[in-house]
Amino acid sequence: MYGMIHRAMRQMVHEELGEEAWLALEQKLAIGPTELLTGMVYDDALTMQIVAEAAARLNLSVEQCLFAFGQYWVRFAGQGSLSSIMKFTGQNLASFISNLDRLHLAVGAAMPGARLPSFATLENAPGHLVVEYRSDRAGLESFVLGLLQGLMDRFQARGDIEVLHRGEKSILFDIRYQDRG
Ligand code: HEM
Repeated sequence: MYGMIHRAMRQMVHEELGEEAWLALEQKLAIGPTELLTGMVYDDALTMQIVAEAAARLNLSVEQCLFAFGQYWVRFAGQGSLSSIMKFTGQNLASFISNLDRLHLAVGAAMPGARLPSFATLENAPGHLVVEYRSDRAGLESFVLGLLQGLMDRFQARGDIEVLHRGEKSILFDIRYQDRG
């Protein structure tokens, strides 16, 4: 995955455990600043090694760490240079999710080699969404659950997210929520 994802992982580990913990992780994996270049594409296997090492240090399972990272990513992207594109993507949970492909299309235009996911809203009723996630990658269900939870947090919504169906290249998520107030 793009180095920008590795950078977000580093920031999460920094915030939770401090710089020493990240440096120890880099040493263990024999990586350094070269593996953290925002605009470079790295093998997904390296990204998953970083997640696994971070999980061990955070005392989480890999799935729990992917979830935490998904949640973190929404906060990470909500700050700094990515914050305006996040703002334009939507002002509430339903509209944000329906515009996610547009967000990835916009960032993907400047990121050759990015393999971006696709999200479709199959049902949109008050307090209820059914969202289809499609990807050519496998194994990111917990990451997507964390991202969706992060989006609920962003819009101060409360509720439950469940997996309705797992296909070969897609997962259906059922989101039941209440907006703030
Ligand atoms: C400004 C905000 C965002 C940027 C810049 C961004 C950019 C990216 C990039 C660069 C990748 C990796 C592609 C690759 O290396 O092949 C990616 C993957 C992904 N993004 Fe985003 N993204 C953003 C927000 C979001 C949000 C809010 C979600 C919430 C659902 C999301 C869901 C995903 C997922 C699930 C993947 C994994 C790719 C896969 O499933 O194959 N992204 N994104």
